[in-house]
Amino acid sequence: MPNAVKSGNFRIGGDIAVHRLGFGAMRLTGPGIWGDPADRAECLRTLRRLPDLGVNLIDTADSYGPDVSEELIREALHPYRGMLIATKGGLARTGPDRWVPVGRPEYLIQQAHTSRRRLGVERIDLWQLHRIDSKVPRQEQFEAIKQLREQGVIRHIGLSEASVADIEAAAAVFPVATVQNRYNLVDRTSEEVLDHCARRGIGFIPWYPLANGALAKPGSLLNDVAKRHGAKPSQVALAWLLKRSPVMLPIPGTSKVAHLEENVGAVEIALSDEEYAALDREGREEFRRSRAA
Ligand SMILES: NC(=O)c1ccc[n+]([C@@H]2O[C@H](COP(=O)([O-])OP(=O)(O)OC[C@H]3O[C@@H](n4cnc5c(N)ncnc54)[C@H](OP(=O)(O)O)[C@@H]3O)[C@@H](O)[C@H]2O)c1
Repeated sequence: MPNAVKSGNFRIGGDIAVHRLGFGAMRLTGPGIWGDPADRAECLRTLRRLPDLGVNLIDTADSYGPDVSEELIREALHPYRGMLIATKGGLARTGPDRWVPVGRPEYLIQQAHTSRRRLGVERIDLWQLHRIDSKVPRQEQFEAIKQLREQGVIRHIGLSEASVADIEAAAAVFPVATVQNRYNLVDRTSEEVLDHCARRGIGFIPWYPLANGALAKPGSLLNDVAKRHGAKPSQVALAWLLKRSPVMLPIPGTSKVAHLEENVGAVEIALSDEEYAALDREGREEFRRSRAA
């Protein structure tokens, strides 16, 4: 059985050690990340499989469902025993596929408190600002989060979809433990942010690591390397991410035990430097093409 321990360790906030290959819990909901999942029992089985596979970093958010993902995590895994449950707040939900940034201090504070209650923890180990709300001065949002930390509601703080300038501004208010931006082999928009995080020892959590399953399909640029390793393209996509940087903490998301086991199997793949570099070149090329299109 594969074990995420092989992906190596990272200390969140220089403090809580996790295995670098984590799990994204956004897909444990209905279509449009709205309401209950079609197969609730399989979602619970998927979550309960995580400890056997050595996965001890789970990413969720108040807005997944909303509430559904956090509630399932609690039902399946509370009291968590050595697992870090990272959640987020700052996006309101007004319907399926609709995400509205709300960064008013009182809303952020309320949401951190309700996440804490839903997850059944005294303090949230890692709370991430899901989006910086452009309608509210970012300093006000950061001050509210700092207050949550001082009050012991949250322990470490992360940002999501943040620029280098955002990270620097936040770092003047509180230590930034993680940054969660969209990133994968063929989406390199956040390359500069990733390099900044690596220099600062900030964990970089790439969301969409499998491009929502597109990098799991046969026929992609990952095919040849996958065949050579007797692996799935999705596994090579994850192995590439893990080799890209020691601060990289991928959180592939799935609602199925079989896909979870497959994704954790990525830790068994040791890409050669040549394979890594060739994939890197092709991924950048694909990214340029998709941007030009
Ligand atoms: N910060 C943000 O703004 C933000 C935004 C989006 C997501 N996230 C976080 O990032 C996590 C991952 O992102 P994501 O879910 O958008 O994208 P992803 O992990 O790249 O892709 C997930 C999709 O791929 C499929 N999949 C997973 N493993 C597979 C496999 N081995 N073979 C075939 N298909 C597979 C899943 O379907 P099945 O369920 O059928 O396996 C799911 O539809 C989320 O769970 C969430 O925690 C954060």
